[in-house]
Formats: sequence, structure tokens, C-alpha cells
Amino acid sequence: MSEPADTNAAIWQSAEAVEAWATEAQRQERGREAHRRFMALLLPFGEQDEFTFLDLGAGTGAASRAILGMYPRSTAVLADFSAEMMKAGEREMRSWAGRYRYAEFDMAAAGAWPAAIPAALDAVVTSMCVHHLPDDRKQSLFAEIAGHLVPGGWYFNYDPVSAADPLVEATWDRVRDREDPEGAGYRHHRSPSEQARWDNHVRYIAPLGPQLEYLRAAGFEGVEVYWRHLENVIFGGCRPAPPS
Ligand SMILES: C[S@@+](CC[C@H](N)C(=O)[O-])C[C@H]1O[C@@H](n2cnc3c(N)ncnc32)[C@H](O)[C@@H]1O
Repeated sequence: MSEPADTNAAIWQSAEAVEAWATEAQRQERGREAHRRFMALLLPFGEQDEFTFLDLGAGTGAASRAILGMYPRSTAVLADFSAEMMKAGEREMRSWAGRYRYAEFDMAAAGAWPAAIPAALDAVVTSMCVHHLPDDRKQSLFAEIAGHLVPGGWYFNYDPVSAADPLVEATWDRVRDREDPEGAGYRHHRSPSEQARWDNHVRYIAPLGPQLEYLRAAGFEGVEVYWRHLENVIFGGCRPAPPS
């Protein structure tokens, strides 16, 4: 049987899909704020340090806002391939004007990054987007991220992973339904467009173990899962600094 088509670009370029995502994200963000702050806290900077970070697949900038808020002298480059998401993001990011800019970038395309993304970044983050890439691209993207970090720079990824064991997945589903009854209703009664977005969400979700290996293979050290709750994890690593 042939593989189902990859609808990722069509979904994220669609104004309707982005509007539906924004409504759902607004509900989910209440539960994610603490995770986003924790990812910001993992960055090895002092509160007054000046640094530039890249938020890949940034969408409307939720991860960036957590970092910009914690480090008042930081600057963000938000990269995304969806004009609709970037348009929505310009509204969400209004109060951060002067400390961020958007760069157009398709993460699915391996190779040279656009000039709008600095060649040497102090940190890179991704949130809720790497799972939209096939595994071989996850792996090559991690290597490209390593190549764009300054020595000693960290990369963190906040993303869902898949369970290899159906018993684990059933446990995650059961707990999630108890924690979020509104979300459970959605899970059990999806409209065709919600189903299409769900299919896109799960298409390339991958187990955690191989993704940690991709980081190690890319040369990262300190590779670890720094936080997790059910399927959602924050993992990352550091580009080694030369011995002093
Ligand atoms: C679920 S949203 C998450 C947005 C944001 N990072 C957050 O945590 O709220 C996924 C984002 O990934 C972006 N995205 C998906 N595939 C992409 C690709 N191939 N290149 C660049 N961005 C992509 C989408 O446009 C969207 O903004």
C-alpha cells in the first residue's frame, strides 16, 4: 500500500487550519506555560546576558516569548514556513517589537539555511514542530542545528514523542483524558478537518530513543531528557566547547 500523502505544508499554509489551530492552542497554552518557562530556564544564561537565539518552526512565538520574558537582553529570530502563522505571530509578538524578527525557512528542506538566520547562534529551540518532519530529516536538521550553534551553545526541543508499547500509549491516553476532559471530547469526535489536522500531527511522531541518538550522532553532549509528562518531552544537548 502506498504511504498517505504528506499534507504538512498544505495544512500550515491554510488560513482555516491556522485559525482552528490558534483556537485550540489558546486552550492548550494554559497548561504549557510552565513547560515553556522551564525550557527557558534550561538555557545557560544569566538574567542580564545578551544573546541571540533561534526559534525554529516558531509559529506565533510562544517559546520565544517565554525566553524573551526571562532574559530581558535577549533577541529572537523566529523561523517558520507559514505566512499565515507569521502573520498571526506578528500580532502576538507586538509587545516584543525590536527584540525579534521573523525569517522564512522551510525546515523540511535539507541544505543551506537562509542568510536571514545568523550563522552562529547562542541557542536554538524548537517546540511542537519537529514531529512534523520525517525521521531522516529530524536527524539531518539536528546536525544543521549543531553546525549553527556557537561552541557551548545549547539546543532544546519541546515536542511529543510516540510510544513503542501500546500499553504505554493506552496509559497516556487514559491519563490525558482525565486531565483534560475537553480535549478528550475532541479526541473522540473529530470533524473531517480536525481529523486531517490530527493525521498531520501524528504522521511522523517518533519514539524518543532514536531522537536522542540523532543528537549524539550530531556531536551534541549533555544529551538528556530534561522534562517529560506523558508524550511531551523537553530534550536537548550542547555543542561541545573546545577545552580551555
Ligand atoms: C504546532 S505549531 C507550533 C508553533 C510553535 N512552535 C509553538 O510551540 O506554539 C507547528 C509550527 O511548525 C511550523 N512548521 C511545520 N512544518 C514546518 C516546516 N517544514 N518548516 C518550517 N516550519 C514548519 C508550522 O508552520 C507551525 O508554525
